[in-house]
Amino acid sequence: MIINELNKNKKVYIETYGCQMNLSDSEIVSAVLTDAGCNMVQNPESADVILLNTCSVRENAELTINKRLLNLNSINKKGEKIIGILGCMAERLRERIFEQNHSVSLIVGPDEYRRLPEILGLAFDGEKGIAVKLSRQETYDDISPLRVDGKSAWISVMRGCNNFCSYCIVPFARGRERSRSSETIYNEIIRLENSNYKEITLLGQNVNSYLCPVTGIDFPDLLAVCAVTATNIRFRFVTSHPKDMSDKLINTIAKYSNVCKHIHLPVQSGSDAVLSRMNRIYSSAQYLELIRKIRNQMPEIAISTDIIAGFPGETEEDHLLTIKLMNEVNFDGAFMFKYSPRENTTAFKFDDDVSDEIKLRRLNEIIHLQNSLSAAKNRSEHGIVHNVLVECPSKRNHLEWQGRSDTNKTVIFPNFSGFYKTGDLVQIKIERSSSATMFGTPVNTITDSKNSN
Ligand code: 5AD
Ligand code: SF4
Repeated sequence: MIINELNKNKKVYIETYGCQMNLSDSEIVSAVLTDAGCNMVQNPESADVILLNTCSVRENAELTINKRLLNLNSINKKGEKIIGILGCMAERLRERIFEQNHSVSLIVGPDEYRRLPEILGLAFDGEKGIAVKLSRQETYDDISPLRVDGKSAWISVMRGCNNFCSYCIVPFARGRERSRSSETIYNEIIRLENSNYKEITLLGQNVNSYLCPVTGIDFPDLLAVCAVTATNIRFRFVTSHPKDMSDKLINTIAKYSNVCKHIHLPVQSGSDAVLSRMNRIYSSAQYLELIRKIRNQMPEIAISTDIIAGFPGETEEDHLLTIKLMNEVNFDGAFMFKYSPRENTTAFKFDDDVSDEIKLRRLNEIIHLQNSLSAAKNRSEHGIVHNVLVECPSKRNHLEWQGRSDTNKTVIFPNFSGFYKTGDLVQIKIERSSSATMFGTPVNTITDSKNSN
């Protein structure tokens, strides 16, 4: 690591936007900078350096960053703080960020975080610095992420994406797929188990296409070894592409009780015509068949998805096919978005012919439907006992605590005497629910456990 005297003891604050990959990257950035002599701080006011780790996936994400940059001017009136842009927006917009935001003095893309100490040194010397080369190898597998204290950890097992869905900026902002060696992942898992972590989420833009560059093992094998290596930890993984949701992976999820019974499987649309223009390489029938196979083996599993409303050329019929598919699958949850054109993507050249008003109306219809599906799903769980990993006091009432079920649902329960603490695994009997949350009471024994570990 470069220890630049100019960086020594400088206070750095990182604000993270976007997906879990970015949260995980911020932990890598924190490790790189701490190694170079900086100290991480929790608020921008006290910092010498403010870094925004950004997302480019939709225009709105970028607008939020631009607003935040303006807003930071109020705490950096004299311009004494170094402001930097990291992540996808840095990669996508490059020098354009300097032109549009004079307060920014460093721009570093997702594959160049090792160079941060050097670029930061330049910035302290009064020079603007930029590093945005994408790499075919970089996985940061030798860097131990600097995690904020907790019981849940992320491990990035692969980076980048080769799928080139026609709407998506990720292959341009994060480059080609590359996987970490499985050995470095096992070592990190053992370290985390020894530090009393209880949950690990294996991360990748396309996590189930993982392929170890050293041993050639695939994602199901990786997951299986993780599950037997650290039996006190429960494992999750995001995000999966349907094309890589193999029978072998389904069998592995079913086989290990410490692999959570939740799959996030983005479908994007229920119309074959739209799926084809999106370059998703599966049909709605193939997606439904996959769901059938998964549920056949694990009837209790929770399945969530991503859906885009108003993709170019989406007709009312296409939209109704999405609604039909949502009803057929009966998703536990969904992230739903209005299509946002992204420069350089294939879909950017398509005629963005669905008006904003119609996009919004369709988006509201699918959100409304998903809320009622989620509410009904949660109601069907009343009386069932879930193993819940305790997270923190609930925001509503500090006598109530919240945690997450194996199926990735938020569960609220009373903790009057402060008996439970973060990281405990508690069996909670669900008594009532809303579309977003389930409420229950701790029980001592499992009477009707859905997801016992
Ligand atoms: N417009 C809208 N949503 C998008 N996503 C990715 N790119 C776009 C875009 N251009 C959504 C997809 C993806 C999720 C992470 O973000 O649903 O699965
Ligand atoms: Fe984007 Fe498609 Fe890759 Fe997901 S799989 S990151 S949507 S290109």
